[in-house]
Amino acid sequence: MQGVSIIGTGVCIPEKVASNEDYMKIVETSDEWITTRTGIKTRHISDGSPAYLMSVKSAEQAIADAGLTAADIDLIIHTSVTPDYVSPSMSCVVQGLIGAVNAACIDINCACAAFVYALDMARRYLAMDDMKHILIVGTELLSKITDYEDRSTCVLFGDGSAACVVTAGEGLFSSYLGADGKGAHSIFARNFPIENAFIASKRLEDFDGFGEWKEHKLYMDGREVYKFATHAMPEAICKAAERAGITLEEIDHIVAHQANIRILETAASRLGLPFDKFYVNIDRYGNTSSASIPICLHEMKQKDLFHKGDKVCVVGFGAGLIYGAAIFEW
Ligand code: ACO
Repeated sequence: MQGVSIIGTGVCIPEKVASNEDYMKIVETSDEWITTRTGIKTRHISDGSPAYLMSVKSAEQAIADAGLTAADIDLIIHTSVTPDYVSPSMSCVVQGLIGAVNAACIDINCACAAFVYALDMARRYLAMDDMKHILIVGTELLSKITDYEDRSTCVLFGDGSAACVVTAGEGLFSSYLGADGKGAHSIFARNFPIENAFIASKRLEDFDGFGEWKEHKLYMDGREVYKFATHAMPEAICKAAERAGITLEEIDHIVAHQANIRILETAASRLGLPFDKFYVNIDRYGNTSSASIPICLHEMKQKDLFHKGDKVCVVGFGAGLIYGAAIFEW
């Protein structure tokens, strides 16, 4: 099977910037705590427009960057943990608005590992000869599920969207995808309560054992996720490199989910790799879940950091718990 090539990228980032000082007005925290524990200085926060409007902008930019029109797209894979609707899917809404009349549509919820899962899916679809151009769109409006009374999580998350157009490429490709559903209680945001015309309303928390938490708001056991991430990320990178038949040193760029700079530093040290192989922009965006890796790819492409044949490893981890890495040649 062939590799993949990212031929276009685009982003849409809300204009409003929230600094650490802004959070000091909401919860008891400090710039020093947030910076040293997470590496975050600012994040972008939605003005209240729906997520699909960000998706449309990043998708259109990626398609134009690829030198294509929307009608050239064969499949849209949209990733989000914060879609606007239970139904229809975000991919269908975006397809209609950008006029991608020939595109099939799929939404996936793989939290912060979603770009890696989507790239792996794209490559498998591209291996058949009936699809040529696949649009991956990652959009998050995490501010709508963020609990602004919980200082240990509210300082972490930001909003944003990024998109990539993927086509079949010449170079190598490998992936390693994993999950540990036993850790599902470590990060969650519940959906609607269970109710219908024939039963009294039931609460999900009476069944799932995750514990009491505010409706729809994101709960995270930061220490548990930290432990998971610092093991899962190096493991996924090693397994993907092994499957690609390359050494870790041969990887030119590691484009990791931006959750916490300390997680990236720990992963680099566990892998014995110099930290400059890791791209970092968490200081400016915070954690944007499934948008974070494609935002990095867009910035890196804009800065001409990729050269033909460079080996790029994308790696993500998040709620599920879920994780994965993929290696491809630029
Ligand atoms: N400001 C000041 N103090 C704070 C803040 C804050 N914003 N938040 C927590 N604290 C305090 C705590 O109350 C605690 O105080 P105590 O010792 O008096 O009890 C102390 O700081 C230490 O708290 P910890 O939770 O142990 O802090 P830690 O060093 O673990 O950092 C963090 C917390 C940043 C959340 C870290 O655990 C982390 O990054 N975890 C991983 C998060 C992640 O990767 N998520 C990815 C998935 S997200 C998704 O899927 C959508």
